[in-house]
Amino acid sequence: MFSMKIKWVKFAESFEYLDNLIQDRTMMKITINERGLLLIKYEDKFYLVKNKCPHQGIKLEDAKCENGKIICPWHRYGFDLSTGRGAGLYLENYPIQEKEDGIYAGFEYFSWF
Ligand code: FES
Repeated sequence: MFSMKIKWVKFAESFEYLDNLIQDRTMMKITINERGLLLIKYEDKFYLVKNKCPHQGIKLEDAKCENGKIICPWHRYGFDLSTGRGAGLYLENYPIQEKEDGIYAGFEYFSWF
């Protein structure tokens, strides 16, 4: 029997550090767990999404954020920052969690135990 689990990977010391790193409604490229991601700050909340549009695979690092969505610069499809859903597609996104020793990103994986 397998189940879905989450591996948590620390990527920052604190939200204060991230707050000083990027401005609201902007994003930065970040590699965590060998994945190319975007860390997005939107209305004082942080999101982690894959840096690849699910439509035709273009990088999203030049995208804009509007109305709680990341808007792909190529065909302007919008994907919800919280769920990744948009235009019948799904942009991979990753949970962020604050723990005692820092800020962690969650990556789902299958486990047989
Ligand atoms: S490549 Fe992103 S919307 Fe088409």
